[in-house]
Amino acid sequence: MKLIIKGRRPLSGRVRVHGSKNAVLPIIAASLLVDGETVITQVPHLEDVHTAVEVMASLGVDARLRGSTLTLRPEGLSSFEAPYDYVRRMRASFLVTGPLLARLGRARISLPGGCAIGSRPIDLHLKGLEALGARIRVGHGYIEASAAERLTGSRVYLDYPSVGATEHLMMASCLAEGTTVIENAAEEPEIVDLANYLNAAGASIYGAGTKVIRIEGVRALKGVRHQVIPDRIEAGTYMVAAAITGGYVEIEGVVPDHLTAVSAKLREMGVDVVEDENSILVNASRRRLKAVNIKTMPYPGFPTDMQAPFMALLAVAEGTGVVTETVFENRLIHVVEMVRMGADIQVDGRVATVQGRRSLYGAPVTATDLRGGAALVLAGLGAVGVTEVSGVEHIDRGYDSLDANLRRLGASVRRVRPRETADGRLAAGTTGGLAGGRH
Ligand code: UD1
Repeated sequence: MKLIIKGRRPLSGRVRVHGSKNAVLPIIAASLLVDGETVITQVPHLEDVHTAVEVMASLGVDARLRGSTLTLRPEGLSSFEAPYDYVRRMRASFLVTGPLLARLGRARISLPGGCAIGSRPIDLHLKGLEALGARIRVGHGYIEASAAERLTGSRVYLDYPSVGATEHLMMASCLAEGTTVIENAAEEPEIVDLANYLNAAGASIYGAGTKVIRIEGVRALKGVRHQVIPDRIEAGTYMVAAAITGGYVEIEGVVPDHLTAVSAKLREMGVDVVEDENSILVNASRRRLKAVNIKTMPYPGFPTDMQAPFMALLAVAEGTGVVTETVFENRLIHVVEMVRMGADIQVDGRVATVQGRRSLYGAPVTATDLRGGAALVLAGLGAVGVTEVSGVEHIDRGYDSLDANLRRLGASVRRVRPRETADGRLAAGTTGGLAGGRH
């Protein structure tokens, strides 16, 4: 799949964000802990969600996605194994380890390998599970975890406030014997959402959203209905789309407090950002943006998932911006593609120095990861001429209806797929339903 973008059209109008990918994935895994039916609403249509649903079904869970409502009934839970194919497709599949341990006393999960944005180890997850009494063996590409009848509460200090490890330990300890304290926990809004879901189901989690989380183990959790929080990264991506096209866009259905760092950086660049209760208005129609420095940090710092999108913006801002990626190693892979569009970016280790140019120029480019791919789309929206972004499957993992939403805001974005011609060669063909693209 490819996206073909004709740049330089100021976006205007309103866009409503979907439920958060990073909130819904751990909640799906956590539903294994519950006796009875979990109903999750505002579920985004994403490849990663489909993979999570398949993982659940493979474990014996009755999992049904209708529209944006996902129903999960774990009474048929029969398997304790998450095979390679799922974990390879989506690292977050690994989060079922703790819930399976808590429910079945056993889990066999393929080791998540490296990925495009670095080696992404799981040592903190495993150390935490061991602290709760799990025995862990690693071999032949799999993790074998087992536990006595019940995991036992413990004090766990995380060397780094890992989002996944915090979520994993919160889930695993809900049904443990006694109290668990997670110190140096991650504070992301998605962690609070997971805690809200589990607490509604009967868990006793205190302090989610702060550095210390306390979990009093309970005997059982009951079925519950939960609406997932809005996707702050999707919202941030539309904010940058508005900014890079000199547009005027209202982003609806968001929690502005979740985007404080992103809004602050846009304001520093000269964009008008007005927050209302559930919406953010972005007006960049007045002036050329000024470069800023960005350093990614755990929440509430500037999100690593917004680093690549902001790099596209800095590439056309006035002056020099220094981007420091502290959260992931190797998360500057989009730079080479942006340079092909005329960006002036020098990378030294985890630091990228971006010298703003008057404009970027459309070029064929390839997405190799989710947020880097979105950043190339954004760069294309701001570039002179036509940009062709390949590797769209990476973007589809995390954005529901990105191209359709951008078209509704006035962008010229067409989705095409390679199609066989009569003589057997591959040619680009437009997929159905996209007549809205203005070409
Ligand atoms: C989650 C998000 C991802 C986001 C990231 C940081 C999901 C599904 N994904 O990923 O979009 O970019 O948070 O906000 O929610 N680390 C270790 N050992 C571990 C675990 C992590 O060293 O056991 C390191 C990682 O390699 C990385 C850093 O900690 O350098 C942050 O990772 P983490 O917060 O765990 O990110 P994820 O939960 O994988």
